This record gives sequence, structure tokens and C-alpha cells, in this order.
Amino acid sequence: SPTLHLGQTLSFTGSPFTEGAEAARHENAGALLVEGGVIREIGTAEALRAAHPAAKLVDHGAALIVPGFVDAHAHYPQTGMIASWGKRLIDWLNHYTFPTEARFAERSYADEIAGRYLDLLLAHGTTSVCSYCTIHPESVEALFSAAEARGMRVFAGKTCMDRDTAPEFLRDSAQSAYDDSKALLERWHGRGRAEYVITPRFSPTSTPGQLQALGALWAEHPEVLMQTHLSEQTDEIAWVKSLYPQARDYLDTYEAYGLLGERGLYGHAIHLEPREHARLKEVNAALVHCPTSNTFIGSGLFDMDGLTKAGLRVGLATDTGGGSSFSMLRTMAAAYEVAQLRHHPLHPSALLWLATQGSAISLMAEDRIGNLAPGLEADFTVLDLASTPAIAQRVAQAEDIWEALFPTIMMGDDRAVRATYVAGRQML
Ligand code: GUN
Ligand code: FE
Repeated sequence: SPTLHLGQTLSFTGSPFTEGAEAARHENAGALLVEGGVIREIGTAEALRAAHPAAKLVDHGAALIVPGFVDAHAHYPQTGMIASWGKRLIDWLNHYTFPTEARFAERSYADEIAGRYLDLLLAHGTTSVCSYCTIHPESVEALFSAAEARGMRVFAGKTCMDRDTAPEFLRDSAQSAYDDSKALLERWHGRGRAEYVITPRFSPTSTPGQLQALGALWAEHPEVLMQTHLSEQTDEIAWVKSLYPQARDYLDTYEAYGLLGERGLYGHAIHLEPREHARLKEVNAALVHCPTSNTFIGSGLFDMDGLTKAGLRVGLATDTGGGSSFSMLRTMAAAYEVAQLRHHPLHPSALLWLATQGSAISLMAEDRIGNLAPGLEADFTVLDLASTPAIAQRVAQAEDIWEALFPTIMMGDDRAVRATYVAGRQML
């Protein structure tokens, strides 16, 4: 039987980057009709109550119903080492990340972290994530199993790294990466809400042979996404050039082995060369902005304005544990701050869009998640726009929904998340 959720609602009718704040629709007394885990209708409370008098009512009062947040790039195995002090990318990987990831050889540890991680996401209003795992197939099993138990649409893949730049205890091979990835893809992709993502960590930790093997797997399975890292830090770019002397640029290390395409997700993409920018645009690849990570690890300022004006698809992500927060609210705030440092402030509608529909578009999943619209899966988050005294006194002065939402984006934490629904089921 259908359920009618009443509250303020925000949904998207276009992209705020091209159409401005008018690309979003706000209803002060709005309603969402949910049945069978799917959104059937969105409209005014008055109209939907009249049309569906038998529906069960859930009244969220003055709270704001938004699409569930979609985190387009994260490393769930790094949950236990988030906020590790004092290192830049390469030292951070060697000193903190790799020893932590080694623990995922043990299935029980992977299960414990996967469950803890997904519960943290739900507590922060995030309903979908695209995550790296570790080299261990068990780490993928753990995450997809925990997601299945919670009904979440999760994108994930086995992280592949076979080069001697990675420690021996954290290396696969070109052949085992291909075989394990293929087996996991065939086992999980499309099972319930699971989506498999081919995942070479980044070109410095793969041999050309491994990149080629994963490029071949992608060619055999063009329906899946491929995720990796690109041009995050200047030391990393210099390292890539020394390891791949024949490559024209960092992107070319992927392009040469069949790892560039429309279903490719390229995390960070900060220090792009003109050819890389042009090729990414040409193939309609997706870039993922990871602002808390880029400031925490000291990587640089993503060019949101230039890249979106050029028409590139961009998603938003925490990149935990390089990112310093599980919260997409905090991530939107960091995206705002980074944009300010580049003299192009982002409107609250663009921030919310990036965290929901923009990320869904980057994941080629906008027909399933990322918005409140008929036919989409009923993943949504209910925000208290006055969750702390500091926020409440700002909201009291607000003249429209964007002025009412912005203080929560900048200062809100998990106290602002009053409820999280996954496929129509309340999870928080
Ligand atoms: N580049 C390669 N691996 C990683 C990682 O785990 N985190 C970040 N931020 N960058 C990376
Ligand atoms: Fe990352």
C-alpha cells in the first residue's frame, strides 16, 4: 500500500549549472507518494492527499525532503584511518593507507568495517556510494553483502594494484586482477541494487599489463563503470611521467590501455593539461570532485567553473579516508569554499545538485537515483533546517528555500539529518 510523505520538497527539473536555480522545484507544503520502494508521484500535499485518500501518511512537518545523497567516490576500507595526520598523497598511502587496507584479507574485519561504514553513511543522509574496496575479493563481498542487507544501491569494485610500487602484501597480478574482477562482476553486477565497477587504483600502482587486462575486461563488459584516480597531486603526476615515459600525459596512461570512456569515472582531476581536458570532454567522461580530500591531503583546487562551463559531467564525493568527513553536507561546504578560493561561488542549488543528481549522472544512474521524480527509487533524506541554535537563528531570516538551506549546508552535521529512507524503508 502506498505511503504519502508530507513536508517541504526539493527536486530537480534540470541542471543548475546551465539553467540556474530555476532548475530546482520547491514545494513548501509538498508530498511524495511512495509504493514498492519507488517514487510514484511528487506534488503538493493538497493535490496528492485528495488523489490518494487511502495512503498511509508520514508527516515530516517543516523538514525538507531532498534526494538521498550520492557519494561518487570513496574508499570504505579507509573508514578506520580517516583523519590521519601530516602526510601528502604518496606518503599518506604508504604510511597509513596500505597497512590499513592489508587488514581486509580477513573477511570478518571487512564485514565489520563495511557494516559500520554503511551505517555511518545512512546517519549522514547518504543513500548511495561508489566505493573502492581493496585487492582482496573478500572486501568486495563484504561491502555488497552489507549493502544488500540494507537495500542500498552501491557501486563498488576490487581495487587492482600489481606493480612493485605497492607493498608486496598488497599486490595482485594482471591475470588475477582480471580473473577476480570478472568473477565478482559476474556474481554481483545487477544482483539486487549492486553495480560492479572495474577499479584500477591508479596508474602508478599498476603495470601496463594490468591496465591492459582491465581495459580488455571493460571492453567485454561495456555496461559497467570503470573508476580510477587522475591528476590529484603534482608529485603524483611527475611519478606517473617517470613510470610511463612514453605517455603524452597522465590520462594517456589510461587511454592507451582502453581505460578511457563515457562510463569512466576519474577522481580528483585537478591539474589537467589541455589535451586531457579536451579528451575527457570528447568522450563525455565523468570527473569526481573530492573537496575535503583535496584540501586535507593538500592536492589543489578543482576547477568546477571551467569544467562545468565546458560541459563536462561532474560528481561530488567525500573520498574517505583521504577526505576528512563522511558527510555530504560537509563536502558541499568544502566545495563552496574551494569555489570561493577560485572566485566562482557555487549557488546552494548547484551544491545540492552535485551531491544528488550530479553524482547520479556521473554514475550513469540518473534513471534510478539522485532525484525526487516518478519512477525513481525512493531514496531520500529528511533535513531539519534548524538543527542547531546557530543554524536556527540564521534560518529565521531566510527569504527563500536557498537562504534557508545554505546555513545547513555550511554548518550542518548529522544532527541535521532527521531521517534517511532507502527504497522507501526508513533506515534512520
Ligand atoms: N590515489 C591512489 N589511491 C588513492 C587513495 O586511496 N586516496 C586518494 N585520495 N588518492 C589516491
Ligand atoms: Fe580516492
